[in-house]
Amino acid sequence: MADSKIESVLREDRVFEPPQAFVEQAKLKPADVEALYQAAQDDHEGFWAERAREHIDWHKPFTQTLDSANAPFFKWFTDGELNVSYNCLDRHLDTKGDKTAIIFESDDGEVEHISYRELHARVCRFANALKANGLGKGDRAVIYLPNVPQAAIAMLACARIGAIHSVVFGGFSAPSLRDRIDDAEAKMLITADGNYRGGKLIPLKDVADKALSQGGASIEKVIVLKRSGTDVAMTSGRDIWWHDAIDGQSDDCPPEWVNAEHPLFILYTSGSTGKPKGIQHSTGGYLLGAICTCRWVFDLSDDDVFWCTADVGWITGHTYIAYGPTACGATQVMFEGVPTYPEPDRFWKMVDTHQVTIFYTAPTAIRALMKHGDEYPQRHALDSLKVLGTVGEPINPEAWMWYRKMIGHDRCPIVDTWWQTETGGHMITPIPSYTPTKPGSVTRALPGIDADILDEAGKPVTDAGAGGVLVIKKPWPYMLRTIWGDPERYKETYFGMYDAHTYVAGDSAQRDEQGNFRILGRIDDVVNISGHRLGTMEVESALVAHAEVAEAAVVSRPHEVKGEAIVAFVILKSGEGNDELASDLRNWVAEQLGAIAKPEEIRFADGLPKTRSGKIMRRLLRTVARGDEVTQDVSTLENPQILEQLQARGS
Ligand code: WT7
Repeated sequence: MADSKIESVLREDRVFEPPQAFVEQAKLKPADVEALYQAAQDDHEGFWAERAREHIDWHKPFTQTLDSANAPFFKWFTDGELNVSYNCLDRHLDTKGDKTAIIFESDDGEVEHISYRELHARVCRFANALKANGLGKGDRAVIYLPNVPQAAIAMLACARIGAIHSVVFGGFSAPSLRDRIDDAEAKMLITADGNYRGGKLIPLKDVADKALSQGGASIEKVIVLKRSGTDVAMTSGRDIWWHDAIDGQSDDCPPEWVNAEHPLFILYTSGSTGKPKGIQHSTGGYLLGAICTCRWVFDLSDDDVFWCTADVGWITGHTYIAYGPTACGATQVMFEGVPTYPEPDRFWKMVDTHQVTIFYTAPTAIRALMKHGDEYPQRHALDSLKVLGTVGEPINPEAWMWYRKMIGHDRCPIVDTWWQTETGGHMITPIPSYTPTKPGSVTRALPGIDADILDEAGKPVTDAGAGGVLVIKKPWPYMLRTIWGDPERYKETYFGMYDAHTYVAGDSAQRDEQGNFRILGRIDDVVNISGHRLGTMEVESALVAHAEVAEAAVVSRPHEVKGEAIVAFVILKSGEGNDELASDLRNWVAEQLGAIAKPEEIRFADGLPKTRSGKIMRRLLRTVARGDEVTQDVSTLENPQILEQLQARGS
């Protein structure tokens, strides 16, 4: 984030109290919130135990709440048994069987309503198909599907039989898909022929075939959903159509009762090294987080229509599409398309059509839609809305105010929710009937979440405006359990800085005078493009894998819509770079990693600025990429002439 932006956020002093009309109709009243905070403060473990008994249907009740014996490998509700899909489906059937669970709108505007009874039947049928195709408890299935109900059905079906899913976002490339399949040693791949997004065909099966031709030896079966109707190759003995797989399967599938600590899913995310981390989540604790945060942060209740615009391929789509809303028995909207197709009022039109009451999206979408102008939201009433949410990256006050005024009509509280793939659910965020909000501020930690800001020595940073390392000082039920296959990396990455009880989020933060948190950005080599996390090392590895590239360094610079954009400094093996090669390299990165990773700019140079010990001076590259004046000390630079060259070649 640009220093100027941080400055403007720092000076922000507009405060919005929870609107009276909202408080009056809220399910969770200020006094209830107060009581939750108090209970959590009095007894951290007891608080979570009580919530777990209140919100989850246990097959076998737990007797132990938290097991810290092997910290930082924490266990919650460890001797309890449950099934997530039972909690998301079966327990609603008596009272809500006919209630709509999912209102699905396809890219081209077709609408399908799926009731809880129907969703239950479809999940059971697919779960039986999974079993018939050799998937069992503890086996991994990679799901590479568009944002359609079948993605949620596949996830819930895995949960039903105790299989572990690993969803890979449909925008990821063949090498990324292959790496994730290989790391998880997945037995099954669930994909589609293709689908349309924004009118454009996404050839999922082709990409999947490519991934499997380069690796993926562990895959025994590929289930293929017919979606786009395009011609695809089906490998006999390996590939089977979804509709054939479920043909003749019973819509009754008894849930597999699993231990609370049984892994529910793995989801890969970027870190500081080139290798994505398989974040492993639990069954009981994760489910509890999804339910509590939906109820607290969105005030979600029976008469709401909830809409999270994320894709199920991201953690947001796991917690706030597949699991949270269904576990709460809510009605939700699921959308296959993009916000600007066919026109930039698609979101707002859908809010009116489906009478959405809670709307949850990302700052990048808000900024992009804001750029299209006020006339698009103005075409629609938007009067069903009650709560607006945002997630994924810091939101600039200008976009926050626009969201509040143009979408929320100054009537809806905005919840700016800070959390991560690793945290499983919301962590620091306003509670809409209770917390005064402030543009650009994530305000305060939820009940039962012990967030703090520490200096390098581990001392709390208490001065308003002073920055430090954002940490969580007590384990929480919905935290990640480990990195798949790499417990050492888990320990080192998240608990290596202070001690085995202090989770280091990888973000820096500061507090304002009222004690509200502001997130400043990552402290590691991770960048945030349109709310999506990307390790600079991953992009560098992709670049050096190109035949003409000798060395590469990747940094980000602020971008008006995407939040951050990638600038890559590239050293060629021979010859000078030109526009054509730059464009080839940009496309190459997109092919290797996915379109999100495509660099905004490639700069060719003869060398990279390095310290005498050979470390690339990234901070300096960031300054150069932004076109800012270099004020850093460059006396340790091994090759000072490089600096001038890098600056001169900038556009
Ligand atoms: C990183 C986590 C959580 C779902 C989406 C992203 C940044 C997330 C906010 C926010 C400022 C935010 C942080 C965090 N981030 N939410 N409200 N304000 N920054 O999940 O891909 O795991 O990324 O996103 O830097 O560490 P993710």
